[in-house]
Amino acid sequence: MRRVPSSFLKSGMITGSHIYTLDGRILLAKGVELTDGYIDKLVSKGIPFVYIDDDISRDIFISDVILDETRLKAKNHIRKAISNMDSFDYQETKSVVNEIIEQLLSNRDILYDLEDIRSVDDYLFGHSVNVCVLSVIIGISMNYNSEQLENLAVGALLHDIGKGMVPSHILHKAGKLTSDEFEEIKNHSKYSLEILRKNDSISSVSRIIAYQHHERYNREGYPQGLGGKEILDMAQIVGMADVYDAITSDRCYGDAISPNEAYELLAGSGDYYFKYSIVQKFLFKLVLYPTGTMIELSTDEIGIVVKNTLGYPTKPIVRMLYNSDFSPIEPYKEFDLFQFNNITIRRVLSEAEVVKISSSEGK
Ligand SMILES: [Fe+2]
Repeated sequence: MRRVPSSFLKSGMITGSHIYTLDGRILLAKGVELTDGYIDKLVSKGIPFVYIDDDISRDIFISDVILDETRLKAKNHIRKAISNMDSFDYQETKSVVNEIIEQLLSNRDILYDLEDIRSVDDYLFGHSVNVCVLSVIIGISMNYNSEQLENLAVGALLHDIGKGMVPSHILHKAGKLTSDEFEEIKNHSKYSLEILRKNDSISSVSRIIAYQHHERYNREGYPQGLGGKEILDMAQIVGMADVYDAITSDRCYGDAISPNEAYELLAGSGDYYFKYSIVQKFLFKLVLYPTGTMIELSTDEIGIVVKNTLGYPTKPIVRMLYNSDFSPIEPYKEFDLFQFNNITIRRVLSEAEVVKISSSEGK
């Protein structure tokens, strides 16, 4: 399977994964043939992309790092918590985060490769869950114990709960914000602290994570303008996961940047926005070219990423599909770029280019 932006979907394409509504129902199942009607429905729900199985990607598998039902349960929990800030069910928060932690602990070689599909309406909830997942992955690589992981995961899942106190016309304003409105949005981390303080069972560490997740190593953050060691490591982890997820997710405006650009951006943020050692831990778990990405190699050939290797983000296993003149390579060849130092990935192809190449051979 490979990720195809919704604007490039065509009837006849086959879905490669389930697509869920926020309440956990299947909007479109895996293996279904798309029709114009289905595509209109996806676009109207604000689904920015879909995983598709096609000739070039059919036996390429991408799996989520946690189970679908856990992701859905967590999304729903945070939705309920934001709409019921003063008395949300903290026992449920704990049970959801421990489910996430347990699944992530069971696979230490985990790589973050699959993007979850979220509609415009569930962006904040999907984002909160992903920040939690990414933070726990980093926490595990920092050898945190179970209590630390739980505190981290709770702070990460609830980091933006204070957004529920920001007036909705400001939070969802489509146009440019006035400086007063921007200041009000920035208040959300203070609001998160206020809300989490109301519940005695929530640890002070989790509260501080939510309060400090917009602080930056170089003191350019808010609300307190803290710097360096003054910011809790765990708050820096959540801050970094927050930035990574926000810049790589397509919110239907086509404004997402690719994982390889995001990787470079984060790599440059060490001891600037975030502590260098934490940035390094995070980069180790990220992929530059997610499985299913179509790429051009230094040999001018075109291929698709089949698998990534932990620790070697520029050297995935690649299936070579087209020659430099776009004629198909038959049968295709597969290379582990790790074993070919002279071959490098030159660039990622746009979906428009993929359509052009695959249709030029009549597929
Ligand atoms: Fe935030």
